Amino acid sequence: MYVAAKNRYDKMIYNRVGKSGLKLPQFSLGFWQNFGFEKDYEEVKEIVLKAFDSGITHFDLANNYGRPFGSAEINLGKILKNELAPYRDELIISTKAGYTMWDGPYGDHGSRKYIMASLDQSLNRLGIKYVDIFYHHRPDYDTPLKETMKALADIVNQGKALYIGLSNYPKERALEAIEVLRGYGVELLIHQPKLSMLNQWVKETELDKMLIKEGVGMIPFSILSQGLLTEKYITEIPLDSRAGNPDVGFLNEDSVTSELRVKLVKLKEIAKKRKQSLAQMAISWASMQNGVSSVLLGVSRIGQLEANLDALNNRFFTDKEIKDINKIL
Ligand SMILES: NC(=O)c1ccc[n+]([C@@H]2O[C@H](COP(=O)([O-])OP(=O)(O)OC[C@H]3O[C@@H](n4cnc5c(N)ncnc54)[C@H](OP(=O)(O)O)[C@@H]3O)[C@@H](O)[C@H]2O)c1
Repeated sequence: MYVAAKNRYDKMIYNRVGKSGLKLPQFSLGFWQNFGFEKDYEEVKEIVLKAFDSGITHFDLANNYGRPFGSAEINLGKILKNELAPYRDELIISTKAGYTMWDGPYGDHGSRKYIMASLDQSLNRLGIKYVDIFYHHRPDYDTPLKETMKALADIVNQGKALYIGLSNYPKERALEAIEVLRGYGVELLIHQPKLSMLNQWVKETELDKMLIKEGVGMIPFSILSQGLLTEKYITEIPLDSRAGNPDVGFLNEDSVTSELRVKLVKLKEIAKKRKQSLAQMAISWASMQNGVSSVLLGVSRIGQLEANLDALNNRFFTDKEIKDINKIL
């Protein structure tokens, strides 16, 4: 039987999420790729327990994570049952609905029907009574915002989720949603946008500023641009990488352009001076952006998790480093 490391809270930093009472670890673990049936269960378990032993108290899932969809939730459900059950109150588990999950008109988008049914399915797969954070995964402009937000508020009132999050909502839609939710007596806890050195739409559109003003936290995803912001693609596309694996489908050889490689080489030089790998520097960079409560780590093996955790020890940047990075980008 697994016993969690006694020193698991010693090194991690915990940040308050917006103006809420909840704190999240600086690094959270994402289950999108490599945590479903596409991966050996024992390996998934090893990574998850290593994360928890390192102070990562937050696991981020969605109905459609893993191959096939739902298998990441099933795997975490098994780990929760067999290993982490005594630690449920030390964990923040999130899931989402918003992308295609099942056939027909009720398995996608933002209707009350889909959201309610999907969360029930997620709770079944996870084998738990409630999730800590439930997200609407993407905006749906064909469903009245009030319908989606009322469903989210009702989920909180039913005790099936403690907090509500939104993901991929642009600034204006997110602000509207915050106000509608408030009308139902629920404060939006957190927003989950894509953000990395290579994709700064959050800053360009001032989504970050709006969230800070409204007291809402932020947890960026794909902070390594799915692995592009590492050193592995500088000279080749390894077969065991996301871009080299045609089964994944979200990154391919075309993503690795010669223009990108030039930037990666220069960024690697700055990272080296900081005594970091490029991946570690990209993680540190994302962690230090305004309004960030936590960042999502995606890993395909335990060594990546261990290396990425080290980014915690060198989070700050000098003005010169920031200037040099911006020049390259
Ligand atoms: N809300 C949304 O719409 C949304 C969308 C996407 C993701 N997310 C969340 O964000 C999480 C992370 O997303 P992501 O996987 O795209 O994150 P990412 O950090 O940009 O990419 C992670 C990938 O980078 C590679 N990598 C990580 N550390 C490395 C290291 N030290 N050295 C070399 N390669 C390394 C691994 O890929 P390989 O080893 O396979 O190359 C790993 O799977 C997801 O699990 C999910 O929770 C949310």
